[in-house]
Amino acid sequence: MTLYGVGLGPGEADLVTVRGKEILETADVVYSPGRLSRTVALEHVPEERIGDLDFPMTKDEEKLRTAWTEAAAEVAPKATAGDVAFVTLGDPNVYSTFGHLRRTIDAFHPDVDLEIVPGVSAVTAFATALGVEIEAGAGLSLREAAAGHSPTGPDRMILFKVTDAPATHEGLVAAGYDVTYGRRLFMEQGETVTTDDPTELDERDYYTLAYAEKESLDVESATAAFDTSAVSGETTDADTPDGSDTADANVRSDGGREFSAAELAALERAEGCAGGDCNADHGDANHGTTGVADER
Ligand SMILES: C[S@@+](CC[C@H](N)C(=O)[O-])C[C@H]1O[C@@H](n2cnc3c(N)ncnc32)[C@H](O)[C@@H]1O
Repeated sequence: MTLYGVGLGPGEADLVTVRGKEILETADVVYSPGRLSRTVALEHVPEERIGDLDFPMTKDEEKLRTAWTEAAAEVAPKATAGDVAFVTLGDPNVYSTFGHLRRTIDAFHPDVDLEIVPGVSAVTAFATALGVEIEAGAGLSLREAAAGHSPTGPDRMILFKVTDAPATHEGLVAAGYDVTYGRRLFMEQGETVTTDDPTELDERDYYTLAYAEKESLDVESATAAFDTSAVSGETTDADTPDGSDTADANVRSDGGREFSAAELAALERAEGCAGGDCNADHGDANHGTTGVADER
């Protein structure tokens, strides 16, 4: 029998995965570490099957170890006799209480079988909520910014635990970042706020994150070439970068804009498929064997 760590997603009940929902509906007991995860779990599980575990909000490691040991002692026998679930908001492997429980179970109850059902994490949900696209080739780092901290360094960062947005903002702006905030994203409980004004977030709310991007980043995507406003309908030899005859080249029509073979090659390189063979049937490890483009 099994202990399932189930990611609930950011908070809206219908962002739980199909697999996660199936586990919640069949588990003998569904443990939740906090009020919010309990509320989300209750959308899928009757109250009598919910078990509460107490994880104190403290940095005192001794107290925390005691709480994890007691939680593991409660969960382990039930996970040996049947199937139980432990839910976390987002994903169980991203800054989550489940990690502590898993390590404690591993240490004291190594016979318990364990499986994890990933969830929609704030790591990905933030992008849709804040209208951010992490483009192919771009880096993205995760940091914590509790108590007004302003970690800096990477070009793009998601900052978790933004509990003092004005203080965090000050440090980030001084270090040359543009910053956007998201509070209670895709959450039914409480008010969702997305803003780049930290004074709107004066009130402390643990479910707040920030996306910080260096001001100096000069990102021009390959699709900038689709901006037809700068291009007349007619394309002549003189317009093409290599002066080649587009009529003879490998051209395509896209929104009235024609591309020469050289332009196409440049676009494809920028998208990471040099040679234009993303769809080719290579049969090697880097290319699909079905002729279908790799998913990115
Ligand atoms: C302990 S971490 C848990 C992360 C979670 N396991 C996940 O994968 O999304 C808690 C932090 O995640 C961020 N967070 C989680 N859910 C959020 C949401 N729905 N909206 C905004 N921030 C969220 C906040 O920064 C919060 O302080």
